[in-house]
Amino acid sequence: MGGDQESYVFIRDPEYAWIPAIKTGNDDKKAFVKVPKYRDEQSILCDGGSGAKEWEEDSVPLKDYNKGVLPLQNVDGAGHLKPFPDMCQLTFLHEAGILYNLKYRHGKGLPYTRTGDIIIAVNPFQWFTDIYTEKVRNRYSRILVWEYDPDAGGGDPRDDVDPHVYETSSLCYTGLAFGGKDQSILVSGESGAGKTETVKIAMNHIASCQQGPNAGSMETSPILERVVRSNPLLEAFGNAKTVRNDNSSRFGKYIQLQFDMGTKAEQEFRSRDKATCTLAGSKCEAYLLEKNRISEHGPGERTYHIFYQIIAAKDKTTYWSKLAGTTNEQFMFVGEACTTTIEGMSDADHFANTVTTLGEVGVVDDQLMTLMQAIIMVLQMGNITFEPKAGDDDKSEVSSKKEFADLCELMCIDQNILEVCFTERTMKTRNETYKVPLNPKVAREATESFAKEIYSRAFLWLVRCINDATAAELNYKSGSMKDFGIIGLLDIFGFESFVRNRFEQLCINYCNEKLQAKFTEDIFRSVQLEYEKEGIPLDEISYDDNTDVLDLIEGKTGLLAMLNEECVRPKGEDQAFVTKALAANKKSPCLFANKTNRRGFGIHHYAGKVLYDAEGFVSANQETLPADLSEAASLSSNEILAKHMTNDSCTNFDNKKAAAAEPSRGAPRRAKSNLVSPTVWAKYKGQLASLMAMLKTTNSRYIRCIKPNKPKKPVLMQHVTTIEQLRCAGVVAAVTLSRSAFPNRMDNSVVRFKFWQMWDKEKFPSKGTKDMDQPVKLQHDCQALLACALAPLAENDPKTGKPVTIFCVGKTRSYFKFGALEFLESHRSAGLDVHAIQMQRVARTFLARKKLVGSAKARKEGVFIIQRFCRCVKAKKEAKKEVEKMKIVQAKRLEKQAKEAEEKAFEQQLKAEIEDREYSAKKEYNKYDQRLDEVAGQIKEAEGRFKERKDEAVERVESAKTEAQELRDKLENEIKPAAREPAKQAAAQKTKLEESGKLIAFLQKENKKLKSANDKAKKEMKKVKETNEKLVASNESAGQSFEMLNDQSKKMSNNTSGVNKQIEKYKKDNASLREDLKKKQEFYNAEAQIRLQYQKTLAQILDVFQDNCKDADLVEDVVCVALECESEAKALLAAAEAAAPGM
Ligand SMILES: Nc1ncnc2c1ncn2[C@@H]1O[C@H](COP(=O)(O)OP(=O)(O)O)[C@@H](O)[C@H]1O
Ligand SMILES: [Mg+2]
Repeated sequence: MGGDQESYVFIRDPEYAWIPAIKTGNDDKKAFVKVPKYRDEQSILCDGGSGAKEWEEDSVPLKDYNKGVLPLQNVDGAGHLKPFPDMCQLTFLHEAGILYNLKYRHGKGLPYTRTGDIIIAVNPFQWFTDIYTEKVRNRYSRILVWEYDPDAGGGDPRDDVDPHVYETSSLCYTGLAFGGKDQSILVSGESGAGKTETVKIAMNHIASCQQGPNAGSMETSPILERVVRSNPLLEAFGNAKTVRNDNSSRFGKYIQLQFDMGTKAEQEFRSRDKATCTLAGSKCEAYLLEKNRISEHGPGERTYHIFYQIIAAKDKTTYWSKLAGTTNEQFMFVGEACTTTIEGMSDADHFANTVTTLGEVGVVDDQLMTLMQAIIMVLQMGNITFEPKAGDDDKSEVSSKKEFADLCELMCIDQNILEVCFTERTMKTRNETYKVPLNPKVAREATESFAKEIYSRAFLWLVRCINDATAAELNYKSGSMKDFGIIGLLDIFGFESFVRNRFEQLCINYCNEKLQAKFTEDIFRSVQLEYEKEGIPLDEISYDDNTDVLDLIEGKTGLLAMLNEECVRPKGEDQAFVTKALAANKKSPCLFANKTNRRGFGIHHYAGKVLYDAEGFVSANQETLPADLSEAASLSSNEILAKHMTNDSCTNFDNKKAAAAEPSRGAPRRAKSNLVSPTVWAKYKGQLASLMAMLKTTNSRYIRCIKPNKPKKPVLMQHVTTIEQLRCAGVVAAVTLSRSAFPNRMDNSVVRFKFWQMWDKEKFPSKGTKDMDQPVKLQHDCQALLACALAPLAENDPKTGKPVTIFCVGKTRSYFKFGALEFLESHRSAGLDVHAIQMQRVARTFLARKKLVGSAKARKEGVFIIQRFCRCVKAKKEAKKEVEKMKIVQAKRLEKQAKEAEEKAFEQQLKAEIEDREYSAKKEYNKYDQRLDEVAGQIKEAEGRFKERKDEAVERVESAKTEAQELRDKLENEIKPAAREPAKQAAAQKTKLEESGKLIAFLQKENKKLKSANDKAKKEMKKVKETNEKLVASNESAGQSFEMLNDQSKKMSNNTSGVNKQIEKYKKDNASLREDLKKKQEFYNAEAQIRLQYQKTLAQILDVFQDNCKDADLVEDVVCVALECESEAKALLAAAEAAAPGM
């Protein structure tokens, strides 16, 4: 890289989020950059452009960048990335820096990277078996558990290991076993990012840690076996294939590994030679199973694995004989499966596994039958259809008789009773109970929600069974112990935003807001700790938290309160909820209305904006099973339906209230009314609150899973999706927070080494003295150095008037405000230049001295050299002066010559131009002359034609007049004889009338001829007018040309009078032509007047005809023709008049 200004930066890119570039300079508004262009997204790297296929020069607006500064790349002098396993070591820590560091490591097969205490796990989509071997597991346990004593001081043991999930699990175990504090690992990420796998990896490692420093020597206990194997069991019932992940968990879970902390003495004197903190059991809490997936799933997706497993099972008839020969397609809730293998194993094989594992947690014989039959009932319910009852659309009856009969048999319920439960709804008022029929659609919906409820209850029942089998309270040391150490693992859905976001998404995002709040708090605490350790004032840290969003959701007038309020209203409505929520939270900066959907609203979550559609919010939040259906369930012989439809607990043993509340069989409990039953959200909020309370008592560690590409391919990293996830996972927020005060940091030793040349020790002396400890002296040196180097950036706060802190020197590191380190980096080379020159000077002097010092001869020679040098300089100076003088004289001469040549060339050029224009003007005029002759001829011809037509018309009118008179006379003469001879006269009259008709026809024809003659005349007139306009325009342009020529000819004294004369002549000709045309126009005007007059005469004739002719139709026809002619004549006159002013 050449000049001082050039630096390796990142610039924004619409397609690839951030791309590397070289900044070559900038003005106030733009930075100028050279951008290397790569083959594809994958090949874009921080490599100084060495892999680029070409370069492009560009400029970028500075306003698009934080404080107008382009983020710098973390590269060496040649522009090659300096990757770090811990991103806190990156000199420039920003979004782009994180992205390219992760990309580099991902490409090198290193899925884990650290940002302080957070592990970022990029899903590799390929198994690197070598990083999960027993040897690797033991190495982490050894370094981070058995050999690590935090109280003994020393460096960070993580410096000796690469970032890994094992690092988090080891530190958790150390924290619990030797720190005595409960721990938790919070794993988050979007679906398919690798959360569940990460939890499994961590769990397996913790299980191996607790075996002691010589892991592998101990036999695995049945408890451990159960704990580890219970995971796939939950997956069979709670996981499904989605487009994002073949084995996606559709519920959230918090697994608590329980540890026996040993005796009091052991706790006080922990030995690192053996494990005294051993696994005693585990408990699992499940959150928000996705119920909708039971009745519907998208294309390319599946419902829960267990359905496919049962249908594929070899021994399925054991559970229900009617399953014999059934296929997926026969069940509406299942349908054609897009795959029948999950993680390389067939559904049938998975089923065998599921049954074995169920056996391990004690679900055998009757219990196994109960569970499987409950699942089969759900399957069968999907096939129940309804139709209008007896032609009444408001009532319904079951139309799938066979399926329904089979279902009733399976549930052990009378068909009539169940049909009524499905097709009618019991309503209760204070005084009476009555039934309302349901239409087929509502009956089907009721059946589906019944199926969903049964499935989710069966799932919770299974969770309780697993907990019963694994919980330390019940299983460890015969249930004699109650207090255990905890390492909790949270595998929970990440932040979600789809095209349409429903109630479930709000619940999920609410959970993420809660976790984010904790995350921010924890990160803040760790930053606080670091600053304290470095001795940096704490008041420098400020950060944004998400309390306003949490307030909006769970506050007094928040969304939750509003929705619950709406749910207890007798006719609660989704839209009313939205209206009230918007009105009550007008001041919230996080809530906004959806202008295109009145039932919609939006929330600014910490991870981004989400638009929610409140349709179904009220019903989803109530979700109380209608009393009819819960009564039907209670009648079933299946225990899950009969006893567990209202049990929300995830455990049986520590919730005595829930157990006591369980109704006994035969005495079904009525479903609670909405007024008293807690809403779904209220329950969920309670569940979350207890989770948060539980987490609060632990020391939390975070693993953020990232899905690097959508097609789930190895090696590939797509920038935009990765960055979005980093933002959602709070990684960027964590970095921002940890660097909010001082975004950049550097070890003091590096500061001293890198920027020493920018330190003027005399002006800025260090307070460090030789007798000080090295780190303390270094701290003082750095303080003075940075005060000197950053002096150009020093400014005072306009409010307080005090100097603004732009850097802070801690005990081991220096912290820089935004832009400060960038300033140092860009001025470093400038400082180096000055020092290089200084060094060169010293070196040359030294060499010269060495040469000269010595003999007198040498000194004499030295004097000669100096004299020679001085004379040479003097002569050079004089010669230079002389040359300057000569240059001036010569320049003047050349200037004069050039001027003369220029004038001459100009004259010649002007002359040629005038000749040229004269010639073309002449040519133009000849053309106009010719055209004028032509037009005159045309006018003359038109005149002749018009006169001819006019005479003819006058003649015809005269003859028509005479004929009309004759007709009138005849009519008068013939009235009397006609009275005497009616028949004869009638005939004669008829003939007359026919004649009159002929006459009218003739007149019409004549009129038509006249009309066309008129049209022609009009067209000709138009032509004449156009020609005239052209002539006028030509005249004007000719005038302009003449004026130009005139101007030029004034400059030149000769050869212009002839042209002027000619111009005058043409002007005159033109004027006389215009006069002629005016006359012609007047003539046409007169003609039109005559035509009008003639038309009026014709009207008079027609009046007479009108008075005397008795045939009304005939009269009307004649009048019409007359009127037409008259209006035409008027139009002609008007046209003639309109044309006149232009002449
Ligand atoms: N550490 C890993 N190494 C290799 N592949 C992984 C790893 N983590 C996840 N995967 C792959 O990604 C898929 C999805 O992971 P999973 O943990 O189920 O995602 P999530 O629980 O976040 O939805 C797994 O089925 C596996 O193929
Ligand atoms: Mg999962």
